[in-house]
Amino acid sequence: MEEKQTGERKSTVRNGNLSNARFFEAASLRGIEKGKVPPDFGCRAIFHSWEGSMNYLKRAEHERLSENSAEVAAAYLGMIDGLRFTGLVSIGAGEGIVDEQLFAKHQPAFEYYVPVDISRWLLCTAFDRLSRLAPIPWVINCDVENLGPAETTLFNGLAGARLFACLGNVLGNTDRHEQFGFKAIGQLMSKPADWLLLSVAVGRFERVKDPNETKNGFHIWDMVFAGVSYHREPEVRGMRADDFDLILQTDEDTGSSSIVFIYKPWNQLAFTLRRYDLKPFLNWLDRKMGFVVERFELLDTGAGFDAGTFLLKRR
Ligand SMILES: C[S@@+](CC[C@H](N)C(=O)[O-])C[C@H]1O[C@@H](n2cnc3c(N)ncnc32)[C@H](O)[C@@H]1O
Repeated sequence: MEEKQTGERKSTVRNGNLSNARFFEAASLRGIEKGKVPPDFGCRAIFHSWEGSMNYLKRAEHERLSENSAEVAAAYLGMIDGLRFTGLVSIGAGEGIVDEQLFAKHQPAFEYYVPVDISRWLLCTAFDRLSRLAPIPWVINCDVENLGPAETTLFNGLAGARLFACLGNVLGNTDRHEQFGFKAIGQLMSKPADWLLLSVAVGRFERVKDPNETKNGFHIWDMVFAGVSYHREPEVRGMRADDFDLILQTDEDTGSSSIVFIYKPWNQLAFTLRRYDLKPFLNWLDRKMGFVVERFELLDTGAGFDAGTFLLKRR
């Protein structure tokens, strides 16, 4: 049994899995369920839905077996060597496997762990995985693209210096312009000793690329179909890749190139895959978003882009 705090109101819900932490559900996510999904939800519809979250778990399992996942994890671990924190706040925690690795190496440094995700289902998985390693004061179910004052207050209450981790290209799949996610995280980093460990894909889409052409792409369509189906009742049957327009967009300011998936029958945003040109991206982070890049590392994935890991501070 755990407490579910909804703004000022506290109620108790039975959830089975989340036993010791307080579960916070952001106001912006309340009432969202199949058939009642905001129209601007693409990637967010995938991960808010049970089916999309389960499809992600299957895909993540495959990616963990890919040859460069160990190198990427090593880059994350190396980047925070020698730093001091009190807690780990994982934004887009997913199933918590990467966070578990951070704990395995740096555990004495962390007095608590706070998983943050739009998926209630993945939050349960992260909680189960990490709860034996650290106290988990809060499990935060929110949308990083749309943080409200209640969740900001909650983050501000977390003790000591925080390592905010936003790993696995979470901000490279946002539905809205990425400034919203970066601004929100920047505002959460309210203490001078806070750090952000970030990963995004570095490179450029030169042309529209079907996910099936990418190394680990074969599960992406299942996730995209699940996200679109979440928008409406009844269930869409027999959805196919041909039902989508894939559009290439570039943004000189951020240095990004994106492939945006639109479900043609409903003109519905379904998914965004984004990569960044390094120089304009670093410039934008610094000049427009107020982040100082202290360290970064690029790893060639062999799939036409680099896995970029960045350690950032607020200016
Ligand atoms: C690719 S996974 C990354 C998981 C993990 N951090 C890792 O590195 O393996 C992306 C995660 O971000 C979450 N996510 C996506 N959009 C989000 C949003 N707008 N707000 C909060 N979480 C989000 C998804 O539910 C998913 O768990």
